[in-house]
Amino acid sequence: MMENNHPSADNFYIKFHDITELGLYLHIPFCHYICPYCPYNKELYQDDLVKRYTASVIKEIDYYASIIGRRPVTSFYIGGGTPTTMLGNGIESIIDHIYKAFNMKCHVHIESHPNDLSQKNLDNLKSLGVKYLSVGLEALQDKHLKTLNRPYSVSEVAQAIDRAVNMGFDCVNVDFIFALPGQTYEEIEQAGHGLVNMGVQQAATYPLFRFPYTQIGQNLIKKESGIPLLFKRRKMLRILEDIFYDAGFYRSSVWAFTREGTEKYCSVTVPLYLGLGASGGSYLKDIFFLNTFNVTEYIKTIEQNKMPVALSVDLSENMQMAGWLYWRIYETRFNKNDFEKRFKTGFDSKYGKEMKILSRIGFLNDDGQEIALTDKGAYWLHAFEDWFSIDFIGKLWGNSKNVPWPDKVVLTEG
Ligand SMILES: C[S@@+](CC[C@H](N)C(=O)[O-])C[C@H]1O[C@@H](n2cnc3c(N)ncnc32)[C@H](O)[C@@H]1O
Ligand code: SF4
Repeated sequence: MMENNHPSADNFYIKFHDITELGLYLHIPFCHYICPYCPYNKELYQDDLVKRYTASVIKEIDYYASIIGRRPVTSFYIGGGTPTTMLGNGIESIIDHIYKAFNMKCHVHIESHPNDLSQKNLDNLKSLGVKYLSVGLEALQDKHLKTLNRPYSVSEVAQAIDRAVNMGFDCVNVDFIFALPGQTYEEIEQAGHGLVNMGVQQAATYPLFRFPYTQIGQNLIKKESGIPLLFKRRKMLRILEDIFYDAGFYRSSVWAFTREGTEKYCSVTVPLYLGLGASGGSYLKDIFFLNTFNVTEYIKTIEQNKMPVALSVDLSENMQMAGWLYWRIYETRFNKNDFEKRFKTGFDSKYGKEMKILSRIGFLNDDGQEIALTDKGAYWLHAFEDWFSIDFIGKLWGNSKNVPWPDKVVLTEG
């Protein structure tokens, strides 16, 4: 259960006390269009709101900078919404301020919309220190772009990605959604080859999640679900896996395939992180807290010199360990020593039995030191993630969207 009883501003100092390094997440909740399947916290772009948002984020940065001091920030991710809507409209000042206020030891990872990738904007991103760029491509057949209500054609998005690839970023990732209504296996095969031939360094492939509080989610839950859907997704994912592995990509997370020899684009690379902006979430060892989702409330609260935190949950050691394990498995491989370093407990004595069972049923390989997820394991994590996203994220995000300052959100019964 998450509750509205977070530590006071003074007590936040204690939460950062023994943290030696952390990641940074910045949420930009603005889009020029609202997509009918999207679960994220976003609203339509408005110039005056964006100006006030910029000033509020800068104030939030200053608050945390005074606590974090010179602790190294070793990963920085800007997500949304659509961060590129703010190019030329405040994102430059925010990024500049972050690099001045924190001890930044990393480059920028940022999400973008294809329609924002003009040559001018790409040059701007490069000069802001962006090395890792993700583009919401979503489909490679016009009819599926139409189903998703995306405001571009395949030929337009291909040109945008071509421009991005030619910029020499360390990694260009494209997001692709599969298992769309009426999509055939042949179309998946055609799209898979199309993704590989675009020259991008990474593709993140997600099955279409059906969030009940989105328009497409509501329609599809009634029409298509259960075993046939699981089977269709499994087969489509296999087609994509074969194409990516043949083309020299490896699985770099449950969803993503990265070209050998390139560094992956990813959202969270360090286990502890601070989230800025409306709906920014922070995880600091024994606490997880979330800013209000409501953009106007976020701005108003910061303008009144108050913290925009809406919900928090204290995490027991067992919850911290389980969360750690989930995210490391999600990244597909990890070293048991890292668990031991973090929790001062032997990994095998805590999770040895469970790992043995998962290894026996072919979900992972354990060489004694390192645990690596198999393709079969990745698929079932996909399926679990689907259920988890719909249930957990549906409750948390669905509720938080409706109520800016909920008293509590019950995530699991009992
Ligand atoms: C914040 S958006 C990416 C940037 C930009 N806003 C855009 O749409 O191009 C994050 C990504 O989540 C994925 N996504 C959003 N809703 C989804 C859903 N219901 N099921 C599966 N993937 C989804 C899409 O691939 C999307 O590119
Ligand atoms: S998918 Fe991207 S562009 Fe569409 S509403 Fe969501 S965040 Fe905005």
